[in-house]
Order: sequence, then C-alpha cells, then structure tokens
Amino acid sequence: MITQIKENKKQYLDLLLLADEQESMIDKYLERGEMFVLFDGDLKAICVVTDEGNGVCELKNIATYPEYQNMGYGKQLIAFVCNYYCSQYSTMLVGTGDSPWILSFYQKCGFVESHRVKNFFTDNYDHPMFEDGIQLVDMVYLSKKLCIK
Ligand SMILES: CC(C)(COP(=O)(O)OP(=O)(O)OC[C@H]1O[C@@H](n2cnc3c(N)ncnc32)[C@H](O)[C@@H]1OP(=O)(O)O)[C@@H](O)C(=O)NCCC(=O)NCCS
Repeated sequence: MITQIKENKKQYLDLLLLADEQESMIDKYLERGEMFVLFDGDLKAICVVTDEGNGVCELKNIATYPEYQNMGYGKQLIAFVCNYYCSQYSTMLVGTGDSPWILSFYQKCGFVESHRVKNFFTDNYDHPMFEDGIQLVDMVYLSKKLCIK
C-alpha cells in the first residue's frame, strides 16, 4: 500500500537521511514536497516529490530500509509517483551523485541522463560525501517523460 503523508513528515527522518545525509538540505524541500510511503506489512520505503514549475516535478528523496533493499520497493514507489503525477507534469527529474549503481537504478526505473551541476555536493554540503568510497562532487540529473493525459 502506498499512501501520501501530509502531517508530521519529520517522523520519517531516519529514512530520509538514508538518501540525503544532511538534515538542513532535507529541510529545503520537505515542507513544499509531497511525501509518499510504501507499506508492505510495515514501512519499507519513502519518497518526496516537489513542483519545480513549467510542468516539471522532481524526485528529491527516495529510500528503502537497508534490510528491504533490492526487493523491488523503490521501483514500485517510482512507478506509483510517475503514474500519480502524469496528468499534472510532463517530466520528472531526479538529481543524484555520480555513482554507477545509483545511476543504473534510476535507468532501470526509466530515467535517462539529462545534465550535470558542477560541484553541487562540494559547494552545498558541509562535509565531504562518499558513495562506495568515491567522493561525490557533481550532481547528475536524470529525467523521465511522464504520460500527460
Ligand atoms: C536507491 C534505493 C532507493 C533503491 O531502492 P530499492 O527498493 O532497493 O530498489 P529496487 O529493489 O526497486 O531495485 C530496482 C532495480 O535497481 C537495482 N538495484 C537496487 N539496488 C541496487 C544496488 N545496490 N546495486 C545494483 N543494482 C541495484 C535492482 O536490482 C533492481 O533491478 P531490476 O529491476 O533489474 O530487478 C535504495 O537502494 C536506497 O534506499 N538506498 C539508500 C538511499 C539512497 O541512496 N537513495 C537515493 C539517493 S539519490
């Protein structure tokens, strides 16, 4: 079951921090973002989507609890929000670190590489961030066309 959360979004901070490890960065989009949680028995995964204007929405945060990763929950949540927003937006964006496995995750969910923002992680985070031992520097944006009805 996937449901939208409108109140007290911070109660899911533990999951949000898995995807975005600096709380002050989460605070920049959490209030204006729409949050969805996936329950399968208990809570498995979460995501937050924002309105970026001009028919574009952005997946700002997606996370599955480590013990439930690689079981299809992330992909299911993305398919849900793409369908949920397809009558409102023409494109969904997602920005991420330049890490091969995460790029391949988004590609498996139908996203294609769009553009990069140079030094995003080094300029905006208060500490160096690493994924699989590689320091994150640029933000890689991927996009997915939604089916406007
Ligand atoms: C990224 C994340 C949300 C993926 O969620 P998930 O529930 O594990 O994803 P799924 O099980 O739906 O996987 C979808 C596809 O990606 C692949 N995939 C998922 N994790 C992977 C990994 N670590 N390495 C390689 N492939 C992976 C799956 O094998 C699956 O491929 P398939 O469709 O061919 O079977 C999850 O790994 C996570 O929470 N990571 C920590 C937070 C994070 O980094 N969020 C993203 C910030 S940009």
